[in-house]
Amino acid sequence: MKFDKPAGQNPIDQLKVVGKPTDRVEGPLKTTGTAKYAYEYNEEVTNPAYGYILGAAIARGTITRIDQAAAKAAPGVLAIVTAANAGRLETGKFYVSRFLAGPQVDHYHQAVAIVVAETFEQARSAAALLKVEYKKTKGNYDLETSRAGAQAPWPGPYTPPGESLTGDFEGAFKTAQVQLDQSYSTPDQAHAMMEPHATIAKWDGDKLTCWCTIQQLNWGVRDLAFILGIPKENVRLISAYIGGGFGGKGTVLSDLVAASLAARASGRPVKLALQRPLMFNNTIHRPKTIQRIRIGADRDGKITAIGHESWSGNLPGGMTEAATASTRVLYAGANRLTRLRVATLHLAEGSAMRAPGEASGMMALEIAMDEMAEKLNMDPVDFRIKNDTQEDPEKPGRKFSTRKLVECLREGADKFGWERRNVKPGAIKEGDWLIGMGVASAMRGAPVTKSAARVRLDSSGRITVETDMTDIGTGSYTIIAQTAAEMMGVGIDQVKVKLGDSSFPESSGSGGQWGAASSTSGVYAACMKLREAVAAKLGFDAEKAQFSDGRIILGDKSAALGDAAKTEDLVVVDEMTYGELSKEYAQDTFGAHFVEVAVNAFTYEIRVRRMVAVCHAGRILNPKAARSQVIGAMTMGVGAALMEEMVVDKRVGFFVNHDLAGYEVPVHADIPYQEVILLEDIDPTMSPMKAKGIGELGIVGVAAAVANAVYNATGIRVRDYPVTLDKLL
Ligand code: MOS
Repeated sequence: MKFDKPAGQNPIDQLKVVGKPTDRVEGPLKTTGTAKYAYEYNEEVTNPAYGYILGAAIARGTITRIDQAAAKAAPGVLAIVTAANAGRLETGKFYVSRFLAGPQVDHYHQAVAIVVAETFEQARSAAALLKVEYKKTKGNYDLETSRAGAQAPWPGPYTPPGESLTGDFEGAFKTAQVQLDQSYSTPDQAHAMMEPHATIAKWDGDKLTCWCTIQQLNWGVRDLAFILGIPKENVRLISAYIGGGFGGKGTVLSDLVAASLAARASGRPVKLALQRPLMFNNTIHRPKTIQRIRIGADRDGKITAIGHESWSGNLPGGMTEAATASTRVLYAGANRLTRLRVATLHLAEGSAMRAPGEASGMMALEIAMDEMAEKLNMDPVDFRIKNDTQEDPEKPGRKFSTRKLVECLREGADKFGWERRNVKPGAIKEGDWLIGMGVASAMRGAPVTKSAARVRLDSSGRITVETDMTDIGTGSYTIIAQTAAEMMGVGIDQVKVKLGDSSFPESSGSGGQWGAASSTSGVYAACMKLREAVAAKLGFDAEKAQFSDGRIILGDKSAALGDAAKTEDLVVVDEMTYGELSKEYAQDTFGAHFVEVAVNAFTYEIRVRRMVAVCHAGRILNPKAARSQVIGAMTMGVGAALMEEMVVDKRVGFFVNHDLAGYEVPVHADIPYQEVILLEDIDPTMSPMKAKGIGELGIVGVAAAVANAVYNATGIRVRDYPVTLDKLL
């Protein structure tokens, strides 16, 4: 099915199941520990061996020698894989990292060897016996000092434009009545998902099956086949449950490659998990940015010039953090400039993390908006509202499909009690605590992408959905079950959803906030086809018939759905593809965040007290799951504001705090109160579901709202994240 004009009335609009707050259909499996994660397929794999990755102990240079004698002689060792015996490996497609070092080392903790043994403990202790000799070369580990040589983004699958210019930015900024020119920085951040990267790899002849934990099985099959130099048809990936991804498991990482090589070398299925302290330097992360923002406005608060430049670093060829993305569409202003630059850094690869680009960019832009509002003597909510735009500011005439940023700000201000904010910073004190309030806008693109599904009807009227979509903790199982139930007119308990197997029809996968709207649209397409098949089989007019209560009904004629599958199951496959509507309309999601903090007047300890988010993100398929997504994202935003930073040792070239003891993320006790308001929206330009994603929107702007609240509490403006108490002293 092709979607190329705005959706009309369709079965989803009944909203009998879709749109209702619905518990996770797989919830009991998770809470009873019976949902299987990658490392837990013990019945499917007999007699597995265990793999252990030894990471490079230098950031840049060459391996001159690996003395394997002691390791080989250690008990239980079955094989040792290094670049010397691994065979040819291509570089990843989505990531630029090579997954096995040798002789060249590209970054610290890049895999140098994979030790395979009978037990995990034997593999680990043998890995410690490997003697690796290196020759170090000098590398760049400091974005600040490498910035001068930064260039336009390197070409790649997701290269953003390096520059966008509208009108005469420099001229308009120079002559603006009120000006702001400030620099901000965001640090390297880790996805820090609960489940580490892990794979069980098993070869049957030249066919490879991997139980793994990746968000996009289609990319995974493509990339793993490419890296290993084998046909795509020979690779099957299974990721039925994923313990968090946040972009850190987009496609293949070293565990998949290492487990596959280890299984080949040992002739055994191999289980391999990245140990937590390896993950931070071995895998990917959200890269540090340095950003300069210039805003010029009239004295009455109308923006006349807005400029945003951002520098990030990466391994050569790696992606550029597109921190200017939101600035290109969020606020009005006739004269505009955005510019992205990337410098070569020899740290682990920077890549996508929850709302890549927008999250980092808005951490800066939304502090700048707060600073500018203060210069203008305006309320920061009013300043944002005044500069709302209903057209894409870089492409005048191009409308947003739906956009209620203003309503988000107003509703949030109202529910939060914004009128109680004191304009003067540092003015409110409760005991030893300084109290402050902050606001930020949120916005995130709303892409949709093609997605296929297979649906099956059996004689009892039950529906089974199969698609290689993943559920990374987001609720995919549930919204897909809701979609099929709504489409076929059955209860959600009559639907079985099977996900996360690359042998199922290819879905959108989970990434870029496109998963929810895209994967359910694929299920919609398949169900439309199944409705036609049922109608044809039972002699109904598919266009006019109703599907309700497990029956197909037209006038006074009706039949049980299962009757269409009496002799054999009815099975159909279809795919939703997309035309050009996203060119015609700017399709984005919007929101507003309000935060209250308390800062101890003596120690400067910062406590978040209240958070309110308002989101405008198309039809909400499952308000309960959507709320949970936003709550999680707000929590992650607090981490970005106050705690999260991978600290670079600039002499040695690695992230020092590479475990969850040193890399801190918020816990329940850090955030006593969170409220999520979902504004009603239906966007027929997106898909027949009329929905958008919300999982990434929820994080965007949060950190700036916290930083602005800290300023309001203390009068101290911190422009370098995280906002830790040492920066307030
Ligand atoms: Mo997302 S960072 O594109 O999984």
